[in-house]
Amino acid sequence: MKHFLTLLDIPADDLKRLIQRAIELKAMQHRGEIFEPLKNKVMSMIFDKSSTRTRVSFETAMSQFGGHAIFLSPRDTQLGRGEPVEDSARVLSSMVDVIMIRTFSHDMVKTFAANSSVPVINALTDLYHPCQLLADMQAYYEHRESIKGKTVSWIGDGNNMCHSYINAARQFDFKLNIATPKGYEPNANIMKAAGGRIALTNIPEEAVENSDLIATDVWASMGQEEEQKLREKAFAGFQVTSELMQLANKEAVFTHCLPAHRGEEVTAEVMDSPQSIVWTAAENRLHSQKALLEYLLVK
Ligand code: CP
Ligand code: NVA
Repeated sequence: MKHFLTLLDIPADDLKRLIQRAIELKAMQHRGEIFEPLKNKVMSMIFDKSSTRTRVSFETAMSQFGGHAIFLSPRDTQLGRGEPVEDSARVLSSMVDVIMIRTFSHDMVKTFAANSSVPVINALTDLYHPCQLLADMQAYYEHRESIKGKTVSWIGDGNNMCHSYINAARQFDFKLNIATPKGYEPNANIMKAAGGRIALTNIPEEAVENSDLIATDVWASMGQEEEQKLREKAFAGFQVTSELMQLANKEAVFTHCLPAHRGEEVTAEVMDSPQSIVWTAAENRLHSQKALLEYLLVK
């Protein structure tokens, strides 16, 4: 039984096959082919934080695969009223076939997985967002080519997305330049484990040099709303602008997990430019998660 709590949970070769499978599943969906490998299978989706893409993509994936998804919010569950994570995991996993969790604490997801008899998928914690990386890697492949040996720049907060980019650098074998303001660097242990592939700077212009993919994210993540004003000051100078994009390789593309704040971490011009692959990446959440569900449940 396999869980997907971080990108390191799937061997690198399987991850690459998963991206190719996502591309196939996308083509099948666009042709209108019916493919129902999860008929009668049920997913429960635990959401302690807001979501548009993650909820809709997982729910749609289960429907298109012939199964069903149950949305659970803390307002309506006993988990939300303090029932132990261990007990919730044991009971839910005795009824459904796969469980997806979006929450604050990564340890909560680890505890849940340790007590679950079915695969658990991390759909974002404060520490990681691995599902988004599947979609981003697929989008880069579709717009360009394999990301192996390329250079990626992460501009902005050393947050959950940044940590998943660090793991992606290990698994997909690319160089990652990270530019954050002082005090907003990624987790030191996660960086250390990735070794020499990662370069850290406080200067965005330095990071994007020779880059093939530029990625960013909001300055204040979910749960950090009260730091918004403070962060706007700290991150001034870390906006992805057309001028910054011009310092990267000519064929460089831009991505963002969304939701984006135009005028903060990225300009409207970059978001809506031909270099932007954000809409492909967003759609790919559906296709790459179908490939993930198939990998976890069918193979
Ligand atoms: N990118 C992403 O996870 O979007 P949602 O928060 O809308 O799910
Ligand atoms: N870093 C963001 C990603 C949202 C998809 C957050 O955690 O809010």
